[in-house]
Formats: sequence, C-alpha cells, structure tokens
Amino acid sequence: MSNWVEAKVKDIVWWTDTLFSLIVNADVEPFKAGQFTKLSMMMNDKRIARAYSYVNSPDSDDLEFYLINVAGGLLSQQLAKLTPGDTVLIERRASGFFTLDEIPASKQLWMLSTGTAIGPFLSMLEQGDIWQRFEEVVLVHGVRLNADLSYQAKITQLQQQYPQLQYVSVVSREQPKQGLHGRITEHIANETLFNHCHLIPTPDTAQFMVCGNPEMVKETSTILTDKGYTRNRRREPGQITVEQYW
Ligand SMILES: Cc1cc2nc3c(=O)[nH]c(=O)nc-3n(C[C@H](O)[C@H](O)[C@H](O)COP(=O)(O)OP(=O)(O)OC[C@H]3O[C@@H](n4cnc5c(N)ncnc54)[C@H](O)[C@@H]3O)c2cc1C
Ligand SMILES: NC(=O)c1ccc[n+]([C@@H]2O[C@H](COP(=O)([O-])OP(=O)(O)OC[C@H]3O[C@@H](n4cnc5c(N)ncnc54)[C@H](OP(=O)(O)O)[C@@H]3O)[C@@H](O)[C@H]2O)c1
Repeated sequence: MSNWVEAKVKDIVWWTDTLFSLIVNADVEPFKAGQFTKLSMMMNDKRIARAYSYVNSPDSDDLEFYLINVAGGLLSQQLAKLTPGDTVLIERRASGFFTLDEIPASKQLWMLSTGTAIGPFLSMLEQGDIWQRFEEVVLVHGVRLNADLSYQAKITQLQQQYPQLQYVSVVSREQPKQGLHGRITEHIANETLFNHCHLIPTPDTAQFMVCGNPEMVKETSTILTDKGYTRNRRREPGQITVEQYW
C-alpha cells in the first residue's frame, strides 16, 4: 500500500497575513502527539514534500497543521493557496521521537517553542494524559509580534481545564501585550522566565522540550547545558529533548 494518501482540505484558518492552520481529513495511521507527517504537492511534474507537526490530538478525525507561508518557500506558498474541497497528499505514517514517551519522568515539563513550533505542544496538551506524568507544565511561545500569538482561545481553554498549566508568551520585536519581552534564550540565561513562573527548575525536577528555529534550539541547549542539564538520549537519559524545524 502506498505511503501517500489523499487528504481533503476541510478548512483553512488565517491568523495573520502569513500564519495559517490547515485542517484536512485523510485515512492516516495512528500517530503520537508530537510527531510529524509530510504534506506533498506536485509542482512542475516534481513531487515536493515537507514535514509538518500534527497540532490535533491523536484521537481527533480532523488533522490540523499550523503553518507559516515562508516568503519564497517552495511548498508552503502552494499550501497557502489551498481552499476547502482541494486535495493534497499526506504521508500515512507519522515520524519522529519528539513525544512524551521519550521524556523521563519528572515534576516539571518546560515546553519551549518559537513560531509554528507551538503546534506539537498543543497536540500533547490536548491529549490530556500528560498530567499523569508531570505536575507542572509551562508552555512558552516565542514570536516576533503580538499578532503572531495564535491559538489564544485554545490555550485559555486548556488552562481552564488544567490549572497546573502555565503559558508564557515572549514577544521580541515590539512591546508585549502580555508575558515577556525579548527572546526565550535571554530569559532562560538570566532566569527571568523561571522567576516569572514562580517555578525553579533543577536537573532533578525538570525536563525541557525545545522546538522550532534551529538557532533558538541550539542556543537554548547550550544555555541549559551550562546550567547542568544534559541532552536526553535513549541510551543516556537527560533533560533536554529537541526538534529543529529547518
Ligand atoms: C520535524 C519538522 C516538523 C515541521 N513542522 C512544521 C510545522 O508544523 N509548521 C511549519 O510551518 N513548518 C514546519 N516545518 C518546516 C517545513 O517542513 C518546511 O520547511 C516549511 O514549510 C518551508 O517549506 P518551503 O518549501 O515553503 O520552503 P523552503 O523553500 O524549503 O525554505 C526553507 C526556509 O524556510 C524557513 N522556514 C521553514 N520552516 C519555517 C517555519 N516553520 N517557521 C519559520 N521559517 C521557516 C527557513 O528559513 C528555511 O530555511 C517542520 C520541519 C521539520 C523538520
Ligand atoms: N528575510 C530575512 O532576513 C529573514 C530572517 C529570518 C527569518 N525570515 C523568515 O521570516 C519568517 C519568520 O518566521 P517566524 O517569525 O515564525 O520565525 P523566527 O524568525 O524563528 O522568529 C520567531 C521567534 O524566535 C526568535 N528567535 C530567532 N532566533 C532566535 C535565537 N537564536 N534564539 C532565541 N530566539 C530566537 C525570534 O526573535 P527575533 O525577533 O529577535 O529574531 C522570534 O521571537 C520565516 O519565514 C523566516 O524564514 C526571514
């Protein structure tokens, strides 16, 4: 059986001029929250495919992806033109190890994301069983502008459902309407993020999942390593688990 199936576009939600959510229906295999699949379109007789993380909970029939229309981007610009009823190819089988079952048991879970990389964390939070593993979860979202803080209604709903969930937005290129100003990295380096949350992590009490801009992922890993945390690997468990988007 082919690993590619047709997905029918159910809806496209535009958050800003460049950020949108694509909701499709397709006969895909079960996946774990945090995993990604591939979307693909034919362009000039060539099939172009790119990875996209699932935003929806694994038990939902509506498959949701949170995308940025990258200026000059080969596939994202085409995906941004889709309308309900159109079809796109989707890889049946999801991939990736950026999932909660790869994270050692711990008291705190820090979910650090930039841009569209908040998506896999929303999937994990939607699934709910995260609360059997962690007492405190902090969802951190770094973006350029206040308008880039998508999914506010969903986050508020999750916080009402799970009072132990903290949400911190970090806006870098204008004064924030809420949360912190600057970059996630500086707020970890000088610990303002932790003070803001009234939660002090230590290697014995905290796990960090870091996703998004590769420079942010690398710099965050370095800062955490300097503070005594280590990379989490199957053979050698640690506290830093990462996924880079490009
Ligand atoms: C595991 C994994 C999961 C991913 N999940 C998502 C997702 O859920 N949503 C999503 O929008 N993208 C996601 N990406 C990125 C995605 O696969 C594509 O790279 C992106 O859509 C650009 O493709 P393109 O063909 O339009 O641009 P290309 O012509 O391939 O240009 C790539 C350039 O676009 C920029 N870029 C790529 N992705 C992003 C991004 N997410 N935010 C800001 N700038 C970016 C970078 O500068 C990169 O060098 C993921 C990538 C990986 C590896
Ligand atoms: N034309 C260009 O020169 C240029 C440059 C970059 C990106 N882009 C494109 O513009 C779009 C922007 O997407 P986006 O805003 O979702 O993604 P983004 O550029 O990754 O920015 C998201 C957030 O991550 C922060 N960030 C970036 N690098 C970081 C680092 N090393 N450490 C910590 N935080 C870091 C940004 O802070 P800052 O605001 O401080 O960067 C911003 O707050 C993408 O398509 C990207 O490819 C264009």
